[in-house]
Amino acid sequence: MQRKRFVVFAAGLVASLLLVAGCGQAPKRTAPPAGASKAGKTTFTIGMSQCNLGEPWRVQMNADLKAAAEKHPELKVIFKDAQNDTLKQRAHVEEFVSAGVDLLIISPKEAQPLTEPVAKAMDAKIPVIVLDRRLTGDKYTCFIGANNKAIGRAAGRWIAKKLGGKGKVVELKGLMTSTPGQDRNAGFREGIAGSQIEVIFDADMKWLEPDARKEMESALSRFPRIDLVYAHNDPGAHGAYLAAKAAGREKEMAFVGIDALPQEGLAYVKQGILDATFQYPTGGAEAIEAAYKILKGGAVPREIVLGSRVFDKNTIAQDGASLEAGK
Ligand code: FRU
Repeated sequence: MQRKRFVVFAAGLVASLLLVAGCGQAPKRTAPPAGASKAGKTTFTIGMSQCNLGEPWRVQMNADLKAAAEKHPELKVIFKDAQNDTLKQRAHVEEFVSAGVDLLIISPKEAQPLTEPVAKAMDAKIPVIVLDRRLTGDKYTCFIGANNKAIGRAAGRWIAKKLGGKGKVVELKGLMTSTPGQDRNAGFREGIAGSQIEVIFDADMKWLEPDARKEMESALSRFPRIDLVYAHNDPGAHGAYLAAKAAGREKEMAFVGIDALPQEGLAYVKQGILDATFQYPTGGAEAIEAAYKILKGGAVPREIVLGSRVFDKNTIAQDGASLEAGK
């Protein structure tokens, strides 16, 4: 009995000495590197706040995120859909923060109202990737998206060329409280500057096909001559086309949109419904790759700018033409 107790005591002593000397099997703890508080974790939860899933483009963005995340089994993505409701999206961000997700990805409906909840996530040390639409201010980790101003400018130049420098255009704008709407408008106006293109009607169709159709109905009833419709997205261009077709006037004018999804804009160009569409990549795969780097303690650029291509009847067979960089 005595002997047995001694053996247990001695074994315990040896084990403690080994641990103190750092030679045992106990895991070695190191302080996480500055700015990488997640180092050492093996699985990560990403909260993805999507502003809506009404348009095919957003369904595609979520699919791209999901496919990219499947390549990293240590990442788990929780998706929330705000159904185009800013207040709901604010609540979703707050829920992700209080649940303590490891990283937040947000594609915000509107810039201003979502800036504050995202800043609070950053204050809570949750890294944030902003995707496609911007916020105001600089409280985020990384922004990923195409250059909407450059796309608008390229659309303006394409339109001026198509119309021989002169004509009457309807502009159906995306939600003007969101940055792509503002930039696609400003870029377009720059692109047509110096030409004799006249914007005879413009309206905010909020990215929505039914709204675009209604706005186009009023444009058609007011203007006997329209040469072209420039819509800030393909659903908008399609809505305008449907309104013109219902009025028997679709052959009198051209239609230009933005997004160029294979199943949407590209199909419309092939069918002769749209004359051109400008690609707007979703950035879903790039967001997951950036998230993975951040979570592993690595650095990512503050801005990741995605390219764009124009697809019209001359270029669609060769997979479109790249927009000239930065122009
Ligand atoms: C989808 C969408 C796209 C557009 C993008 C701009 O909600 O309207 O059609 O390109 O958002 O943020």
